[in-house]
Amino acid sequence: MFYPYQITSEAAYEKAYAQSIEDPENFWNDIAQHFHWKKKWNKVLEWNFTEPSIKWFLGAQLNITENCLDRHIAERGHEPAIIWEPNDPEEHHRILTYKELLFKVEQFCHVLQNNGVKKGDRVCLYMGMVPELAIAVLACARIGAIHSVIFGGFSAQSIADRLVDAQAEFIITCDGAFRGNKEIALKSIIDDALIQCRFVKKVIVLTRTRTPVSMIKGRDVWWEDEIKKVETQGNPPFPAVTMEAEDPLFILYTSGSTGKPKGVVHTCAGYMVWTTYTFVNVFQYNPGDIHFCTADIGWITGHSYILYGPLSAGATTLMFEGIPIWPDAGRFWQIVEKYRANILYTAPTAIRSLMSFGNGPLQDKDLHSLKTLGTVGEPINEEAWHWYNEHVGQKKCPIVDTWWQTETGGILISNLAGVTPAKPSYATKPLPGVQPVLVNEKGESIEGNNVSGNLCIRFPWPGMLRTTYGDHERCRTNYFAAYPNLYFTGDGCLRDENGNYRITGRVDDVLNVSGHRIGTAEVENAINMHAGVVESAVVGYPHDIKGQGIYAFVIYTSSHGDENLSRQDIAQTVSRVIGALAKPDKIQFVKGLPKTRSGKIMRRILRKIAEGETQNLGDTTTLLDPAVVEDIVAGRL
Ligand code: WTA
Repeated sequence: MFYPYQITSEAAYEKAYAQSIEDPENFWNDIAQHFHWKKKWNKVLEWNFTEPSIKWFLGAQLNITENCLDRHIAERGHEPAIIWEPNDPEEHHRILTYKELLFKVEQFCHVLQNNGVKKGDRVCLYMGMVPELAIAVLACARIGAIHSVIFGGFSAQSIADRLVDAQAEFIITCDGAFRGNKEIALKSIIDDALIQCRFVKKVIVLTRTRTPVSMIKGRDVWWEDEIKKVETQGNPPFPAVTMEAEDPLFILYTSGSTGKPKGVVHTCAGYMVWTTYTFVNVFQYNPGDIHFCTADIGWITGHSYILYGPLSAGATTLMFEGIPIWPDAGRFWQIVEKYRANILYTAPTAIRSLMSFGNGPLQDKDLHSLKTLGTVGEPINEEAWHWYNEHVGQKKCPIVDTWWQTETGGILISNLAGVTPAKPSYATKPLPGVQPVLVNEKGESIEGNNVSGNLCIRFPWPGMLRTTYGDHERCRTNYFAAYPNLYFTGDGCLRDENGNYRITGRVDDVLNVSGHRIGTAEVENAINMHAGVVESAVVGYPHDIKGQGIYAFVIYTSSHGDENLSRQDIAQTVSRVIGALAKPDKIQFVKGLPKTRSGKIMRRILRKIAEGETQNLGDTTTLLDPAVVEDIVAGRL
């Protein structure tokens, strides 16, 4: 055992859990001692879920990068912090030791400062999975700027919406990004976004693909040129800016049931403690282990379990630029073999996709270094779980099925690798500090075992969201208003006879497509922007690889003929407005949508039709025009 707060037996888990419920303040007070603070707290927790107002480690001062970098230099300065594997296996990989990473972060802090970035400013990052993304994120944190990373798959319009919402005046991007055999022209997408965002003052552009880009005088600067300026100043150090415990660390946009993504805000101290504690305990990380999380830093999983959690624990984190199936479906296994990775953390959608290639790509790979496997992002079906267990883990690696959300900052429900028991398709037990509650439609708590309901959490944990950027009321109505004094997750859940939790999927209008969260309202808004569209309704349907696919019912009034071309036009519109990740898998043209007399679309019926049900569609008598249902059923795709 290396980490003082590492739980190494089932009994220790039970004990820690009990303590965390009986006396949360002392429990977290003890754990927080193992971090580096500029000033300690005078109170551990102050909260209410009505406003909501959640404050952890009140009065404390810190900088998360001192925990992720500086404090490891003496003992582990020469150990690898980040191992970077490029998209193309022929290109050379890079390794940054803790010392080198700190040096580069400090250097880039100067670049930020020279370009006018100050504490509290919002900086948007739109980059590929290159080490400089990690450097830029950490440099923002060190200077006290609030980073907002946008996944490289989002469109110019989506970026513009986020820039406006966050009033971000600074952007860090790349000329382009490599993804499999594709090149994505990131800077050019940023240029399109900026047509609407005149308030952006500076764009720092890193060279990656050497795609031609337009650089606007006075606004756009090259990363490399800016670094040279710092070099000529002799690379002075950059002391970490003092942050209050509850100062915002970052904003990350995520989809909800309304049309507009929300900027989830996480703060410095609680997020740091939570990601580090959960990283060490769930994965049972031991010093020297190589942790390979395949997520993108554009999503919360990358923030918490590629960057902050592992680095704060002094771990070696492996960052991969590419995709699982290029140049072939053995890419993950080849990376595991190359670096002798010990932990592999990925999404069920990736597992299902790799499974579909059969066992061939695994056969010539040496995977014996693996100790722990993890999944995240969506429910894992038993077939995929067993394949992962048998063919990747060779039945000797515990699998952790980790349930959590952008809003929760880190893992809330999961077994602890090799310490507490796994159960296929169950996230199992809550981590210390997490108090799950299942509620029925009326908001009454459902006690006992072998029950199911909507999943809520009854008490704050350090890593939870604090607000939605610029609109606190939205945070309240989204998460704290459905059930009084509870945080509502939006997920349905069941609890088995032994108190294990199984997440069954979203109960709101949010889809989970390949582990990506997409709001149905967002997709509908995008479809409705197409000139020929009168109205649309979007629902999810089961998809073998993606988990859920997007099914759109569209009322279309264009007389141009070719339906297939019209479908492509609509898909193209969605790509433009949101990004290719939100393109519908199926578009059915319909004459009408099933509406109640008050005009509400009966999604329940559409969901059933999309799932392939044609007979038992439930009560349709309250519909304004029950005949539309027959038409829709007849035209099913
Ligand atoms: C789903 C990703 C089942 C869930 C970290 C949640 C899961 C949403 C699991 C959050 C899991 C995440 N089992 N479902 N292990 N993990 N989910 O914000 O519906 O991108 O609400 O965060 O993914 O997605 P988000």
